[in-house]
Amino acid sequence: MKPKVFITRKIPAEALEKIKEVCEVSIWNNEDVPVPRDVLEKEVVEVDALYSMLTDAVDEQLMEKAKNLKVVSNMAVGFNNIDLKVATKRGIKVTNTPGVLSETTADLTFTLMLATSRRLLEASDFLRQGEWKTWSPMLLTGQDVYGATLGIIGMGRIGEAVARRAKGFDMNILYHNRSRKPGTEEELGAQYTDMETLLKESDFICIMTPYTPETHGLIGEKELQLMKKTAILINTARGGIVNEDALYKALKNEDIYAAGLDVFENEPIPTDHQLLKLPNLVALPHIGSASIKTRTTMANLAVENMLQALNGKVPPNLVNTDVM
Ligand code: DGY
Repeated sequence: MKPKVFITRKIPAEALEKIKEVCEVSIWNNEDVPVPRDVLEKEVVEVDALYSMLTDAVDEQLMEKAKNLKVVSNMAVGFNNIDLKVATKRGIKVTNTPGVLSETTADLTFTLMLATSRRLLEASDFLRQGEWKTWSPMLLTGQDVYGATLGIIGMGRIGEAVARRAKGFDMNILYHNRSRKPGTEEELGAQYTDMETLLKESDFICIMTPYTPETHGLIGEKELQLMKKTAILINTARGGIVNEDALYKALKNEDIYAAGLDVFENEPIPTDHQLLKLPNLVALPHIGSASIKTRTTMANLAVENMLQALNGKVPPNLVNTDVM
């Protein structure tokens, strides 16, 4: 009998075909809305594998219903949507898709650095709204990226990919991480600092750390107050790492210069949210890894992880290694 799989969103055709060759597949084929909780709860009852997205809460209540579940293959590097402890206790393997999205996410991080510092959206709107009357020395002037100081919070694979790009812009790189990275310090000239120094000295502060109970609200009022008035905050990790009310106040009062956010505490952020009224905020709909090539690679890697786990093997990207 073929193992049963539920896929919680439309995925690239080549990834789906690979699963269909060996599994009985049920899929939530709607790209616009996540699978409703009641549908998900029904679907997991019989499945051997769940192919999930970062928007699906795989919690105790869900796993309790999924008596046959052997693997949760998350098509994302982040896995904060899954209760790892419960999965491990129930012998469920959890996998993610690290590495393959680092460069694409670093590209978007840099896009946000450039867009915020050079006021790209403001300038584009200015032109389209017919406000451009003449060239003028101080018109729409912003901040330089070239030669500025970049502070990276969380020097993992994506942080390193951002730092490599920053080197090409002759930036001075500071970083804060749970552990020091001597290789990165040597290769990229990155300097390890405590959090306070990083916040005080950086022109750009990029959040690249995983979202955990420890990093929830890591950037709040106190941290924003430590930043330079000209500082720019970029978040392409997870929304909950930044306190959005504190950020709103800091941007509104011009305590910092701008922010670029690809992620929000609640996604999708409502269009009437106070943050979206600010001219010094560039907001994107969580598209850090959204290139066709990378999303296809992520989908295929999630398939490989899932099939290996179903075959009783150690999948390449097992997160809860103690489950073995
Ligand atoms: C992830 O994979 O966790 C990103 O947030 C989406 O690419």
